[in-house]
Amino acid sequence: MGTNTADDAGVYRLTPDLALVQTVDVFTPVVDDPYWFGVIAAANALSDVYAMGGTPRLALNIAGFPRAKLPLDILGQILRGGADKCQEAGVVVIGGHTLDDPEPKYGLAVTGTVRPDRIITNATARPGDRLVLTKPLGIGVITTGIKYEQTSPATVEEAIRVMAALNRPAADVMVEVGVSAATDVTGFGLLGHLYEMTRASGVRARIWALQVPVLEEAWSLVRRGVVPGGTQRNRAALDGIVAWEGVEEEAQVLLCDAQTSGGLLMSIPQDRVDRALRLLRERAVPTAAVIGEVTGPGNGEIAVLGRR
Ligand code: CO
Ligand code: CO
Ligand code: CO
Repeated sequence: MGTNTADDAGVYRLTPDLALVQTVDVFTPVVDDPYWFGVIAAANALSDVYAMGGTPRLALNIAGFPRAKLPLDILGQILRGGADKCQEAGVVVIGGHTLDDPEPKYGLAVTGTVRPDRIITNATARPGDRLVLTKPLGIGVITTGIKYEQTSPATVEEAIRVMAALNRPAADVMVEVGVSAATDVTGFGLLGHLYEMTRASGVRARIWALQVPVLEEAWSLVRRGVVPGGTQRNRAALDGIVAWEGVEEEAQVLLCDAQTSGGLLMSIPQDRVDRALRLLRERAVPTAAVIGEVTGPGNGEIAVLGRR
């Protein structure tokens, strides 16, 4: 599986029962603290392997850093954050590369493994499935609020906790319960990634806007006009694909909000949903919410309802 699919990572089969899962993610700081930037970048990079039901094994650091402008210790803190998160995940950082860059950047190339018959893709959601989300939305709005000093310290802390959380416990549940399809929610927002899933699966879906968990302060930030460019582009790109039915403006923005290190979006057969939710809550994932359903065959169309 490679660039011809819109899946989270590339998969390369080595033997009948072993395949490599490869992915890379790099971005500019989303929080002011270099250590936590490193932690979040690592959690985010590992997530694409988890989303495909794989186990991350090895990682390489990729960093850009303005050597003449910032003390090198800051780069050290970023790398330490990444290393700590990789260690928590049981992933070995085996090297990396840094280049001189006017703007700091950090990310990782991650190698994982998966049994070829256990790969979870985003292309096999089935009518009747329920859609489950494992982290709240609003991260894009909140990190933009950080840049403009509009986000409260308590919300910054909460957002860091959410972004830093590994998707591993959620992925464990997914593998245990058996899901139809999954993806992680990142730059294209909830609806952008859902659309990749519905389109690739040849289905249509319905989202209950009131059931979607959102970090509380994101609502007031959106009302004050704090909306990242990526979120606006996501919303525009879904024009003609998403039918909004009684959904307020702020909710439309947040359902398209570009996430960093967001949760897993799983499409689960209805008779397995209760067990999945019970296990997700036991493993203390940031949230475990049924937010919608796959309604039938289609070309990816999404209906978002403001009322249930
Ligand atoms: Co992804
Ligand atoms: Co990615
Ligand atoms: Co090198």
